[in-house]
Amino acid sequence: MIVLTSCKWILLAPFAFLSFLLIGAEETCEAGGVCGSIEGQRICETRVSHCRPSSSSLYRNGGTAQAYKTDSPEKENVCEPAKYSATSYKTASWAFRRTSSKPAPTLKVKAHVWSCQDDIEASNCCCELMEDPFKVEVWQTRPDGSYASLQKRKDDGDCRATILSNGTFFGFETVAPGSTGILGGLGPSGRDYMPYGPPVIHFLISSDNHRLTLLDVPLLIDRHSLNYSYFNWPDLRGSAWVRGKVIDEAYQISEWKPETKSNQVIVELNIFLPKRDSFVEDASLCQADITGLPISFFLEPIAECTPSVLDFFEL
Ligand SMILES: *[C@@H]1O[C@H](CO)[C@@H](O)[C@H](O)[C@H]1NC(C)=O
Ligand SMILES: *[C@@H]1O[C@H](CO)[C@@H](O)[C@H](O)[C@H]1NC(C)=O
Repeated sequence: MIVLTSCKWILLAPFAFLSFLLIGAEETCEAGGVCGSIEGQRICETRVSHCRPSSSSLYRNGGTAQAYKTDSPEKENVCEPAKYSATSYKTASWAFRRTSSKPAPTLKVKAHVWSCQDDIEASNCCCELMEDPFKVEVWQTRPDGSYASLQKRKDDGDCRATILSNGTFFGFETVAPGSTGILGGLGPSGRDYMPYGPPVIHFLISSDNHRLTLLDVPLLIDRHSLNYSYFNWPDLRGSAWVRGKVIDEAYQISEWKPETKSNQVIVELNIFLPKRDSFVEDASLCQADITGLPISFFLEPIAECTPSVLDFFEL
């Protein structure tokens, strides 16, 4: 069994190396628009053009849905903070080293959701606070950088949650995610190898009149000050994780309040959802014609698009 386990990761290695060919790194902040400043921190301010998505692809915002699993339970916490108090918190601020400490800080996240009109005539941004009901699926790595299983009925609800909202905002509590490496946080027994990337929380937001929106929000946190921190150097893991040319930044961190005494951070986000436009088909999770190529393997949800992989790999 042990031999089989290591064999299958060797089988995956060519994908990992092929993905190097697809690197197109660019710093998030510059890719998203101008850099602003809140309490001395650099944040990305969205450009007015985010009203008009540059592409209809679900992956237009540079996120990955590789570790997405449907039917996560409806709950208010994503990772139960108490469950991870003894788990190492492993993050990387550059590609070749992950540092470890514990416990990971607790995050209290609140997001305001804006409905953005895709109006060709508009010269300025036409976003209004959302009034329609919407569903948010949130998933992330545990603090040690591993994802809970993709198998049905295994680790259900572990660092995954579905949140329903009648409009305007949603909120949840969780622990800070860890960084994943070349195995995308899905390695056997939580193993992963460099190059690493910044830790992220993934959001998939659906609402009747809006485009299905996938977002990866990087949340690298300075261990001592709990300040927001930026990943140095490009992310070398491949196209799926590298935020290439993101023209229309779909979120903004509007507030970042570190509370070092209680080891927690209060985070507020603005999320911009483009209205659905009758000319553009809604993006789907599985888009590749040939599954299993690096370009789709690291982007598209394995549990949805290539479930046969789950019979072969213990993901
Ligand atoms: C953390 O942020 C605060 C407020 O912006 C700032 O005063 C402080 O110097 C920062 N600490 C570090 C270690 O960067
Ligand atoms: C949404 O509104 C309905 C009816 O007003 C209410 O019963 C329900 O609890 C609300 N749900 C949320 C998540 O606010």
